[in-house]
Amino acid sequence: MIPTIMPVYSRSDITFDSGNGMYLFATNGLKYLDFGSGIAVNSLGHSHPHLINALKTQADKLWHCSNLYHTIEQEKLANRLVKHSFADTVFFCNSGAEAIEGVIKIMRKYNFEIGHPERNRIIVMHNAFHGRTLATIAAGGQEKHLRGFAPIVEGFDRVIYGNIDELRKKIDSHTAGILVEPIQGEGGVVPASLEYLQKIRKIANEFSILLALDEVQTGNCRTGKFYAYEWADIIPDLLGTAKGLGGGFPLGAILITERVASKMTLGSHGSTFGGNSLAMAVANATLDIMLSDGFLDHVQEMGCLLWNTLESLVKAHPKLFIDHRGVGLLQGIKCKISNIDVNKALISNGLLTVTAGDNVIRFMPPLIVEAKHIVEATNIVNTTCKNLLV
Ligand SMILES: Cc1ncc(COP(=O)(O)O)c(C=O)c1O
Repeated sequence: MIPTIMPVYSRSDITFDSGNGMYLFATNGLKYLDFGSGIAVNSLGHSHPHLINALKTQADKLWHCSNLYHTIEQEKLANRLVKHSFADTVFFCNSGAEAIEGVIKIMRKYNFEIGHPERNRIIVMHNAFHGRTLATIAAGGQEKHLRGFAPIVEGFDRVIYGNIDELRKKIDSHTAGILVEPIQGEGGVVPASLEYLQKIRKIANEFSILLALDEVQTGNCRTGKFYAYEWADIIPDLLGTAKGLGGGFPLGAILITERVASKMTLGSHGSTFGGNSLAMAVANATLDIMLSDGFLDHVQEMGCLLWNTLESLVKAHPKLFIDHRGVGLLQGIKCKISNIDVNKALISNGLLTVTAGDNVIRFMPPLIVEAKHIVEATNIVNTTCKNLLV
């Protein structure tokens, strides 16, 4: 008989019922060190008192009133995102895929409204991941996500991530813009070089096409900057974000420049739940912490420590690991044996990591991680490696 939850996920057989800081507690009585953050979502760990307080306070005031009206928390969050990014305006939605779906729509609409309806194609990358809606699986282009879901949404031209010449050649009179992840997370933690991102920006300017970034995974301080594009010192035209922004409460957002957003006419996009008051209150509480003095310094410092640690682990276990890459607290180790087996073995020793493409294990702890947790994770990886080799 089919389980009551549609079996589309390959779940581990652990059931969690609470969390605190860097740890999750399971019904089997065991405690797990969380280096997966619910796939880069629990940016401030579990049960953060400031987030709990914000949620409870908002729950007593207002949950939802729709986008037919203004709300205080929604305006506050939009103002802060605008103040701390390139954007002039924000659209709120509920997930990463919905943010990127909106990004795709805005790229098409902008070109349509400026008198170029023929510019409706978007250049995307091999090994990209943009979500699971019909348009975002088409943008991601992975066979395993597309199989059975024809007809596939049209309008995407794919190039090799990192190859600037191929990208330039792909641009034609139908190109609306370029959509790229600054680091391919699901694709195997593959960072674009800063030079590549800078060149993409230049090319987009040269051809008067849009540059859209998918920062669903890389955003919200994960790489040690508020958004990862800041490392390359470039300004996108629009950007999709989600995951860590709500610290565990579901929400997504599109950050957009005025030039582009002004072409989104009244009624041209919308969402019933987008900007929901509970989500806004928790995201504002998350930003209280992320934007506080020293927070990004802490993420960068922990990112360096994790970098050195994973480098040593790769060197110490040449039979199991090949190399290591990433930025800030989004790092990955490429395995020699199946990453699924390594992940399972780590879980059985009390460490939660997440698999990614290219046979990689992702290490993306909550951003509140401390040196002692990195030491604890290292000890678990070392023990696990010894067990895997016998
Ligand atoms: C880069 C990127 N874009 C989009 C998504 C889709 O986000 P969601 O699962 O919230 O729809 C993800 C999710 O992993 C992602 O990593």
